[in-house]
Formats: sequence, structure tokens, C-alpha cells
Amino acid sequence: MSIKAEYLKLFVNATEKAAYGASKFIGKNDKIGADQAAVDNMRNEFNKINMDGKIVIGEGEMDEAPMLFIGEEVGTKKGQKLDLAVDPLEGTNFVAKNLPNSFSVLAASEQNNLFFAPDTYMEKIAIGSNLPKDLVDLDNSVEKNICLLAEAKNTTPNKITVCILERPRHNKIISSLRKMNVNLKLISDGDVSGIIYIVDQNSPVDMYMGIGGGPEGVLAAAALSCYGGQIQTRLVLNSDESIRAKKMGIIDLKKKYNIDDMIKGDVMFCATAITNGDLADGIKDQKEFYEANTIALHKDAEINTIFKNKHKK
Ligand code: FBP
Repeated sequence: MSIKAEYLKLFVNATEKAAYGASKFIGKNDKIGADQAAVDNMRNEFNKINMDGKIVIGEGEMDEAPMLFIGEEVGTKKGQKLDLAVDPLEGTNFVAKNLPNSFSVLAASEQNNLFFAPDTYMEKIAIGSNLPKDLVDLDNSVEKNICLLAEAKNTTPNKITVCILERPRHNKIISSLRKMNVNLKLISDGDVSGIIYIVDQNSPVDMYMGIGGGPEGVLAAAALSCYGGQIQTRLVLNSDESIRAKKMGIIDLKKKYNIDDMIKGDVMFCATAITNGDLADGIKDQKEFYEANTIALHKDAEINTIFKNKHKK
């Protein structure tokens, strides 16, 4: 079964309202205020939607997040049973400092079809569409993955572009990539959009690699699943997190998850730009209206578009 098509517009509306809430905090150095405004607005919109929704990836566990916590039921309970992964504000630093590429993001699936990733780090490697299945692997060396991708694309490593978060934990990977003369796109935050670059027609990025947030990994996998891209992930867990993951029902803590393990069946994905970005223009606040741009994807309906909407304030 698919997700009913009419939900896409309603979800776009939810990320647009959330993005607008956060946009009032652009450049105000207030990450908490921006996040809260996005969360409040998204939750408010969810609760108007005729769905029997459950947050499976959200702001945290029930005891640490009062709203959009993991397990929270949202919607009027009248419609389809849906699971939701949300990041009402992806790129809190970007909004606080008025930098490009902040988004309000969500993914929706039918019940039990999204990977319930704990809020921990995750290793990720992702490539675009039309490439051999399982081409790259987290257990390969950086060099091997680059050579495999270059060969599949009928090119050479020096023509491949890799996106990676600029973090000390990635120094070894970055130095291997530099030795191979690979082009780097180093990002300071925001690995959901970092991963979407690989399927964006206007971006030169061919591969994403490195460690980022687990919830962001599931959201990016939802987008890639609509575009036909590939991602492989593995949780990075300290001892407390391992206990938590086991409690969540994860038996094999070292398991490598391919895209079909993370996203099953139909999926919708929406990302509204808050600040201007490479993938979409941010919220344009005018006197009586504001304009919002949203990447809107629906796998089964093969919808892959940018919605441009005007909302009355
Ligand atoms: P926030 O919006 O929650 O600040 O997350 C931004 C982000 O850059 C994610 O895109 C990424 O997955 C994660 O943080 C990386 O974590 P860290 O900053 O700890 O390396």
C-alpha cells in the first residue's frame, strides 16, 4: 500500500510553518529559541492533519523532550497510520549565525517502515542513482570506495567530488581523499543536505562519507530512497548508548544498514529551506505574506519537485 497522495501537501505545509517559525530567529544567536519555534509550529500543524501518526525519530526521548518526542502520537487519529521522522530545525548553527543551508525536514512512511535509529552518531556512505547495487561499503578503505565509484562512473578519482563534515574525527579520511586528489566539499554542519547533494542535478557531489547524527541518517535515507540513491550506515555507540540501543530492540549493534533496511515501502520527504541554500531559497518574509520553498518527494507517486508557496501571516 502507498501513502495517500493528499498527505504530501499537508506535510509540506508542516515543514513550511516550522521553517517560518525558525526564520524569525535568523542571525539572533538563539539556537534554542529557533528550534522551539520550529517544533511548536510543526507539532501544531501535525495535530490538524487527519492521520494516526507516531513520531519515531524526533526531538529525543519522552523524558528529555516535551514535544515531538519519540513515541508521541500526532494527528487527529482519523486517517492513515503513519510513522514520522522529524527534524524541525536541521542546522541550528546556520540559523543562529545566518548561514546558508538550514532546513525544516520530515519523512513519513506507513507504520513500522522507518528505521528507529537512536539519537547517536552513525557512520554513513552514500552515492547517487543509476549505479550498481551495493557498489561501496563502509568496510572498504577510502581508496577502494573512491576507485570503485570512479570506475562505475567511467572517470578517475581526481574527477570525483566527496562531501564530508569538517570535523577532527574525519582528519584521516580527508587526508586519504587529498592524497588521491579527490575534490572535497567540506561542510560545517547539515549532513541531510550534504547527502542530498549527491542526487541534486546542480551539484557536483558524487559521494558522501563520514560520521554524523543517526536521526539525520534516516531522514537522508528517506530522500535518497525517493531519488533511487544508495546509503549504507552503521551506528556508532558508546557503552550507555549500546544499552539504550538494545532496549530499543537493536540486537546486532554492529549491523550495516543498507537503504532497504532503513526505509521500507513508500515514503514521503519534505525539506523547507529556512536560510537561503544551495538546494533551495530560504523563507522570504514580506509584509503580509511569506514565501517558502520546499523539496517535496513521494516515492510511489514519483513526485520530485520544489514547491513554492505563499502563506498569509
Ligand atoms: P543540529 O541542527 O541539531 O545542530 O545538527 C546539525 C548537524 O550538523 C547534523 O546535520 C549532523 O548530522 C550533526 O549535526 C553532526 O554532529 P556534530 O556537530 O556533533 O558533529
